Amino acid sequence: MIECKRVNEGVDMNIRISDFIKDISPYVPGKPIEELQRELGIKDIVKLASNENPLGPSRKAMEAIKKATRGLNRYPDGSCYYLKKELSKKLGVSPEELIIGNGSNELLDIASKTFLMPGDNAVMARPSFVVYAMATRIAGATPLEIPLTLELSHDLVAMAGAITDKTGIVFIANPNNPTGTINLAHEFDTFMKKIPGNVLVIVDEAYYEYVTNKEYPDTLQYLKKGYPILILRTFSKIYGLAGLRIGYGIGPKELITEMNRVREPFNVNSLAQIAAAAALKDKEHVRKSVALNKTEKQFLYRELKKLNIDFVPTEANFIYMRFPFPVQPLFNEMLKRGVIIRPVGKNEIRLTIGTRKENFKFIKALEDILKEWRRQYGHNSFKP
Ligand SMILES: Cc1ncc(COP(=O)(O)O)c(C=O)c1O
Repeated sequence: MIECKRVNEGVDMNIRISDFIKDISPYVPGKPIEELQRELGIKDIVKLASNENPLGPSRKAMEAIKKATRGLNRYPDGSCYYLKKELSKKLGVSPEELIIGNGSNELLDIASKTFLMPGDNAVMARPSFVVYAMATRIAGATPLEIPLTLELSHDLVAMAGAITDKTGIVFIANPNNPTGTINLAHEFDTFMKKIPGNVLVIVDEAYYEYVTNKEYPDTLQYLKKGYPILILRTFSKIYGLAGLRIGYGIGPKELITEMNRVREPFNVNSLAQIAAAAALKDKEHVRKSVALNKTEKQFLYRELKKLNIDFVPTEANFIYMRFPFPVQPLFNEMLKRGVIIRPVGKNEIRLTIGTRKENFKFIKALEDILKEWRRQYGHNSFKP
């Protein structure tokens, strides 16, 4: 137990806080684009840092929102009845097997609070989505982080091997963020068969709709067979609704019932529910988004090869790149040229696949920066 202190003129503040909360590094958000534009004096900054849909939200979702604003004096539907009905039709599961969250992020948090106890551990990959470790710590449990394989996908053999009698959850991001890699159906199947019945497998499929590999696992079949699995998907990526915060979980109804004890009653706002239901039906928007991602991925691959950049082929809407130098100066130079990228390690960045114009701007900026550094620091040796 730690104390959060401040000596005041009146009462001295002396609030207790658990040491596992003190251990959590808070998420550091970037500055708003408008503020950066003002500070840097640049008009159109391109943000390729948060894996958002560059085509924007579905038009159908926007129209549905406009119509729904009149009802904003009312609390939202706490059961997300209509959205669950649509999802249940689409996925072939019952509404009782669904839970809707304020982003899939909230569902990671609810699941950790529901299924982890202080002293437990949760197995996850490193690097993977940072929220798994945060949610685990908030629940008073310890993250057991297992390095990715040399191909930068989850090492499912090592992860299964790391399970102890204190393990409550295994988190798997498929595709993985930040590497964009996937685990294939046969690897996943071997993994699932090794998992004891008292360990919940959370498969985070935030980028599900972008995957083109035919050997991507069909995780719903494990739910149907009765495995302890929770599948998470989101409206933030392909559906372009990140700003509304809405995602969903699919799992055994017994586990969803337990999560509903922890979920706050009106956790998903009404505009998000309405927009998500409309976006689900907008097949054209999804098709266009997938098609754009496919062509732009190929464009970026070609251009990155020309520049001799080490990148990892992706199954998602972002590309992981490794550089032979620390990437912070690259981030700074990119920003000056109006491109926001995401450093995800000392020498690595993650780039969201944007529109052709946005991707071209990134490539042009990268080419210019590398040229300038070569000129300044000598051929083939980039800025340290
Ligand atoms: C792997 C992964 N899971 C979950 C999320 C969170 O998505 P949401 O916006 O639904 O909270 C993200 C967002 O970047 C992600 O990359």
